[in-house]
Amino acid sequence: MEKICYLIAVAVLLVNCFALYSSNTDEEALLAFKSGISSDPYEILAGNWSTNTSICNWVGVSCSRNRQRVVALNFSAFNFGGIIGPHLGNLTFLSSLDVSSNNFTGILPPELSNLRHLEEINVGFNSFNGEIPSWFGTLPELKRILLNNNNFAGSIPPSLCNNSKLQTLQMDYNFINGIIPQEIGNHSDLESISVKYNQLIGSIPFGIFNMSSLRVLDLSANSLSRRLPENMCDNIQKLTGLYLSLNQLSGGIPLEIGNLSRLEILSIRGGSLTGIIPSFVFNLSTLNIIDLSNNSLSGSLPVDIYHKLPELQELYLSSNQLTGGLPANVGNLTRLKYLFLANNRLIGMFDSFQIIKFER
Ligand SMILES: *[C@@H]1O[C@H](CO)[C@@H](O)[C@H](O)[C@H]1NC(C)=O
Ligand SMILES: *[C@@H]1O[C@H](CO)[C@@H](O)[C@H](O)[C@H]1NC(C)=O
Ligand SMILES: *[C@@H]1O[C@H](CO)[C@@H](O)[C@H](O)[C@H]1NC(C)=O
Ligand SMILES: *[C@@H]1O[C@H](CO)[C@@H](O)[C@H](O)[C@H]1NC(C)=O
Ligand SMILES: *[C@@H]1O[C@H](CO)[C@@H](O)[C@H](O)[C@H]1NC(C)=O
Ligand SMILES: *[C@@H]1O[C@H](CO)[C@@H](O)[C@H](O)[C@H]1NC(C)=O
Ligand SMILES: *[C@@H]1O[C@H](CO)[C@@H](O)[C@H](O)[C@H]1NC(C)=O
Ligand SMILES: *[C@@H]1O[C@H](CO)[C@@H](O)[C@H](O)[C@H]1NC(C)=O
Ligand SMILES: *[C@@H]1O[C@H](CO)[C@@H](O)[C@H](O)[C@H]1NC(C)=O
Ligand SMILES: *[C@@H]1O[C@H](CO)[C@@H](O)[C@H](O)[C@H]1NC(C)=O
Ligand SMILES: *[C@@H]1O[C@H](CO)[C@@H](O)[C@H](O)[C@H]1NC(C)=O
Ligand SMILES: *[C@@H]1O[C@H](CO)[C@@H](O)[C@H](O)[C@H]1NC(C)=O
Repeated sequence: MEKICYLIAVAVLLVNCFALYSSNTDEEALLAFKSGISSDPYEILAGNWSTNTSICNWVGVSCSRNRQRVVALNFSAFNFGGIIGPHLGNLTFLSSLDVSSNNFTGILPPELSNLRHLEEINVGFNSFNGEIPSWFGTLPELKRILLNNNNFAGSIPPSLCNNSKLQTLQMDYNFINGIIPQEIGNHSDLESISVKYNQLIGSIPFGIFNMSSLRVLDLSANSLSRRLPENMCDNIQKLTGLYLSLNQLSGGIPLEIGNLSRLEILSIRGGSLTGIIPSFVFNLSTLNIIDLSNNSLSGSLPVDIYHKLPELQELYLSSNQLTGGLPANVGNLTRLKYLFLANNRLIGMFDSFQIIKFER
């Protein structure tokens, strides 16, 4: 009996020592992180991150209930300036890191690849630079990567596509160039890809259209070119938003687009699309917004448009080569707020239509 008690006591002591040691590691890591913060205009850390109290009471820090290990850091909009040093990589239990909307600069240090439990990283709206870290691809639990509005450059590392759990990939407003890796199609769980306002070139890899879980694809404002594949819609049946505006896409709109039965927003403005707008487009009853303006599309608007697009709120078709007239019953589109049809070859009084704003 005594022996058992002794053993239990030793075990408890060891566990406590280990916990103490571990949270000391976390404290060291956080203090090192603090020393990388060169600007804290609201003096958020100065009074708060006191070594007298547990790190779990520090502002922006969340700990696990049992082991008192740091599991989440959220410094969103704290107005911090400075760098993210390597020591954050010692927070081995971290699952969420949100430093968005600050003034951080420098690179994301490779030591962050030690964060094996990381599920979400949000560094958006800072001034980070360097390449998109290829080690993202080695973090097994990563679900959300948010890098938008920074100065990241270089190309999308194919290894990024190694994350089987990835759901959200957001890299808008950076300087990302090169092609979109074909491997991106290996993701079975990816729901949202947004890489608008970058410098991507080449064609949209077919693999993207293989992702059956995809709901939103936004590749607007890059330099993507070539045709959209005819069978692009076979597998992306869950898509609700397709944004490909401000690229150099050519060729026709695939007829199969009519198979995207959940599509709410279709935006392919400012490309070099030719051919007629497939009647299937006007048969997607879920559509809210259609923007195909500033292409070289021909054909006419279907006379029964109001039967088929009950949800339509915005229709932008200006600067194309559309012919015919405005369907007489366009006024029956009860939700329609904006209709832009200028610069086409439409007949009758609608030739010069700039904007019709429907007040209801
Ligand atoms: C630090 O801030 C947090 C959250 O605002 C608060 O709960 C905590 O008591 C503060 N700690 C100190 C030492 O001021
Ligand atoms: C922390 O401890 C030091 C002395 O050990 C003391 O001067 C200081 O006021 C304490 N700070 C807080 C927030 O308790
Ligand atoms: C961080 O905090 C902000 C503001 O409180 C919140 O909007 C955001 O969702 C939080 N981030 C995470 C990852 O929970
Ligand atoms: C934390 O990380 C730094 C840099 O990666 C390393 O030099 C240091 O030994 C680590 N400290 C602890 C306590 O693990
Ligand atoms: C960010 O830092 C730069 C220089 O380090 C400074 O000029 C700028 O005002 C800062 N912006 C904010 C929002 O703090
Ligand atoms: C990607 O995953 C494969 C298979 O799991 C692995 O062999 C490869 O090393 C990984 N690549 C990177 C860059 O992590
Ligand atoms: C990823 O996709 C590429 C090309 O699409 C393929 O060759 C490769 O085997 C795939 N990798 C994995 C791990 O599935
Ligand atoms: C798309 O998926 C099909 C069937 O799942 C597969 O045979 C094909 O290789 C995939 N293509 C690409 C480019 O990933
Ligand atoms: C929808 O997909 C099916 C099967 O892939 C195909 O037979 C059909 O023609 C498609 N419809 C349209 C409008 O593209
Ligand atoms: C239409 O697109 C061309 C390039 O394709 C661009 O130069 C022009 O400014 C665009 N016009 C409008 C009205 O968006
Ligand atoms: C339009 O959709 C309806 C119902 O979704 C379908 O029955 C019809 O065949 C479609 N017509 C065209 C031209 O795609
Ligand atoms: C279209 O609107 C007019 C007047 O607002 C109405 O009389 C007519 O029944 C509507 N037609 C359909 C098919 O809804």
